[in-house]
Amino acid sequence: MARIVGGITTSHIPAIGAALAKGLQDTPYWKPFFDGYAPVRRWLDEVKPDVAVVIYNDHGLSFFLDHIPTFAVGAAASYPNEDSGWGLEVLPQVHGDVELSWHLIDSLVADEFDITMCQEMLVDHAVTIPLNLMWPKGDWPPIVPVAINTVQHPLPAMARCLELGRSVGRALASYPQDLKVVVIGTGGLSHQLDGERAGFINKDFDTLCMDQLGADPEALTHYSIPQLVEFAGAQGVEFLNWMAMRGALTGRVSELHRNYHIPISNTAAATLLFENRPRPERRKAA
Ligand code: DHB
Ligand code: FE
Repeated sequence: MARIVGGITTSHIPAIGAALAKGLQDTPYWKPFFDGYAPVRRWLDEVKPDVAVVIYNDHGLSFFLDHIPTFAVGAAASYPNEDSGWGLEVLPQVHGDVELSWHLIDSLVADEFDITMCQEMLVDHAVTIPLNLMWPKGDWPPIVPVAINTVQHPLPAMARCLELGRSVGRALASYPQDLKVVVIGTGGLSHQLDGERAGFINKDFDTLCMDQLGADPEALTHYSIPQLVEFAGAQGVEFLNWMAMRGALTGRVSELHRNYHIPISNTAAATLLFENRPRPERRKAA
């Protein structure tokens, strides 16, 4: 049986890629940010997940505004990266796990999530930056990419994304192969890249989101998409990816680590690490 060992959330700001390429990790601007990933990497070194389900939003590389699926799942043996306009070095392709992808797709559709299935898919900074932060040596595990539309309104509701994650969690739990799976949600936290509120950051709301994500994600479903835009910023809606990650955790969830740092580029940068332990078997009544 596949086992979900934990969940990780992280920002995916393109400038992180440039900082990594230039070796700026220990400079005053970047150190408080990169230091936040050491505990995540230690945990990954210890647990050694076999595969990562990466829940993210595409920024116009695989899907442009004329064709945007609300939910899409990759089913490719590899996912090439391309420069998506941020001036980043093109990274090696990411390996896929085709069998696990189709299992996820089968389960999601049976569960009434009519996702778009992609046998070809490019991945942008929302996938490659998190992989590089977590496995900086490039020893990335195979992935199953799950893309949520956070770009073209109407966006799926918070509750729907939490449910999508729950469906992913059920799918993984029913996968017959013995695999350790980590689920990663990328993007966020609060940020707005353009318009009158460009540069908008909301620490109070971010803190509330991080606190509730572990303890009571259901409570966050009361925020509508317009409220999420208002409180998190037009691109802060990438928090939907975090909601789906949380939904996938099926066991007893404990927060092992968090880091929050303002700003990196235009964004409140954050990472969270959740452990997902199986629930103890219920004792039969005597
Ligand atoms: C930035 C943040 C993002 O999430 C993104 O996709 C692009 C840029 C930024 O803060 O620069
Ligand atoms: Fe983004």
